[in-house]
Amino acid sequence: MKMKLLVTVAVSLVLSGFLTACREEGTAQTVQAPAIIPAPAQLETREGSFELTANTSISVPAGDQVLARTAAYLADKLRTTTGLTLTVIEGGDNRAGIRFARASGAMGTGAYNLAVDAKGGIVQASTDEGFFYGAMSLWQLADPQADGTFMPFVEITDSPRLEWRGAMLDVSRHFRSVDFVKNFIDWMAVHKMNVFHWHLTDDQGWRIEIKKYPKLTSIGAWRVPAGDAPQADIDPATGEPRLYGGFYTQEQVKDVVAYAAERFVTVMPEIDLPGHASAAVAAYPEFGTEPVEAVGSDWGIYYSTFNLEPATITFLEDVMDEVLALFPSTFVHIGGDEVATRQWENSARIKERMEELGIENVHEVQPYFTRHFANYLAERGRRLIGWDEILEGGSIADSAIMSWRGIKGGVEAAKAGRQVVMAPSPIYYTDYRQSYLPDEPPGRDHVQTLQDIYEFDPFEGLSDEEAKAVLGAQVTVFTEHMRTEERVEKMAFPRALALAERVWSPEGAKPFDDFARRLMPHMARLKAIGLHPADSAYAVRFDVSPATGGKHTVTLDTQSGQGTIRYTLDGGEPNAASPVYQAPLVLGGDTVMRAASFYQGTALSHVREQKLDWSSRTFRNEDELALCSADLAIKLDDDWPRDGERANFLIDIVKPCWVYEAPDMAGVTGVRISVGNLPYNFQIGDLINKVELKEPQTEAGEIVVFKDSCDSGMELARLPLEVATKHYGVTTLEAPLEGAADAQALCFQVAASHYEPLWALDWVQLTRGE
Ligand code: ACM
Repeated sequence: MKMKLLVTVAVSLVLSGFLTACREEGTAQTVQAPAIIPAPAQLETREGSFELTANTSISVPAGDQVLARTAAYLADKLRTTTGLTLTVIEGGDNRAGIRFARASGAMGTGAYNLAVDAKGGIVQASTDEGFFYGAMSLWQLADPQADGTFMPFVEITDSPRLEWRGAMLDVSRHFRSVDFVKNFIDWMAVHKMNVFHWHLTDDQGWRIEIKKYPKLTSIGAWRVPAGDAPQADIDPATGEPRLYGGFYTQEQVKDVVAYAAERFVTVMPEIDLPGHASAAVAAYPEFGTEPVEAVGSDWGIYYSTFNLEPATITFLEDVMDEVLALFPSTFVHIGGDEVATRQWENSARIKERMEELGIENVHEVQPYFTRHFANYLAERGRRLIGWDEILEGGSIADSAIMSWRGIKGGVEAAKAGRQVVMAPSPIYYTDYRQSYLPDEPPGRDHVQTLQDIYEFDPFEGLSDEEAKAVLGAQVTVFTEHMRTEERVEKMAFPRALALAERVWSPEGAKPFDDFARRLMPHMARLKAIGLHPADSAYAVRFDVSPATGGKHTVTLDTQSGQGTIRYTLDGGEPNAASPVYQAPLVLGGDTVMRAASFYQGTALSHVREQKLDWSSRTFRNEDELALCSADLAIKLDDDWPRDGERANFLIDIVKPCWVYEAPDMAGVTGVRISVGNLPYNFQIGDLINKVELKEPQTEAGEIVVFKDSCDSGMELARLPLEVATKHYGVTTLEAPLEGAADAQALCFQVAASHYEPLWALDWVQLTRGE
């Protein structure tokens, strides 16, 4: 035991000042202040710390298999983040170590007490999940230092605020391996999240084996990705375009469900009906209102629906029978979002069936399905949950609502006394980007920062009484734009942790700064457990403005305002000994500035670079160009190459038009651009008729450059796209620029006779005669 820290704080709600005191680098304190995420309900710290060593054991009551497993889980996590291998002892009288002890009285589900003193750490709870959560708090207390690993003396009393602390993962748009799904569940569990909503079926892929209907996976799980390049990517095994997809066997599903259960995570399946059905209908056209030729690779909202034949209802019940056998979850999600009535309206046979069933109009068809499956599930001791569109069918006994179109549906349902899970878009939708950084992964344009999520109140507009109908909240990870697993990790984490704290910690969130500070030491733990968290909150941002004498003023900051920024000016890698950024720097044009943020000697962010030479200052990548409009703006991935790095494009798919603001036109004689041709794989309904393109002068079209404005400015140049039609990837085009010396902006817009292919600007470089 070592005495290192002298701090006493009453309750965690007043911790922020305390953490500030410990945040400064170079102070004498080497034991970290408790930085637990989600923040415990009550936390007191005392003077001193307990040293964990390889001889420290974790003792659990004899014969308690569940606690032994939780203790082994804790030992594994501690080994990963501290390098120490602790032994689990069953029934040992462990006076100096970590001890799990059943509380004598009943504590709430998930509640625990955790005390660390000179004898070690003791976790007390009366439920199995309480021990698990106590263990995860203890794990986060263990602070590896150069001279040992220490846990500060604490007393924690903690319990969950809400019972549903969830995350949804879409494996239809992009398939994820079983190993990845298990990792995702681990990343949830260590933050006390407990509902894994597995979005298993959708238009772009059916991902769960159903033994009675093998074509759901032999056909429904596979698609040809959108675009010319994937069409031309012939699989030698079949002579056909290579297919993208995959599915989980029932054995794999059982394995995932059991794995999650050991971590106190319930896996809730989502089987979409009666819309988002086209992969199923591609496999079994007889169950669709209209046939589907092949599993689609477009994003957006499809018109495909199930029909009303008795055989279709039987099919869906058969599917549910197999699903219920695999998932013990009380709630089963039936989707129910974005169901278009168009196919039903156009079908004489549907009209006939509606008459037979006494359904008066097409808007009653979806409620018919919802009611049927609410009853089906209730008869089997389960409960239906669906996206908030199911509210439109009126009250359906014992079903719950997942509010995604903002919180409106959830508020309405809660006021009516129906149970609700808040998953509002866009705030809890991690497919939106989280920063404007140039290396932000693809995603929907509107930026939802870590702070936005942390500060959002999912109970707005509800009285205390009404709020009782809110079971909890969850983030969603829809994966249209998340091609790789690493991108899922970056989009979901650490933003999911902001939600985790809102749903776990007592009402009355701490200031965001407090969360962002606690997250700093936690980032290293996240990386140690195999996660690649986004560093967007801590990444260094550069702002360059002209200074006198041909120099430049460079201002640095981070999105969260946290992290010590260190930099180099000679192209070297910044490290924990590099100069600390204090104030804007005035630098010459030959400078290569590299910077990263640090927390106590450990890098929090990747190194980012800013060059100050003329070419670098007159270069704009996709994130540095403004969009002319943001009707439907997305940062997109190129469709090629199949493996490896692809170009990204930030584009409004309704108006492909970009602005290079405030260009330094001195000496500029031309412009070089990089363009990509993308598939227009978006089902956007009537919006497609509003796509705004300039009049082309050639068959393939051009990129037109205007002075100041694409709507009212003078045309400066046209860059023909013909040569770019020959490349699957990006193409560099170049043109002279004249008469633009006084341009306040350069505007680039696509001129083409059709929206397909979608031409997108990757970057712009101004050039000057050498
Ligand atoms: C949804 O995002 N369509 C639930």
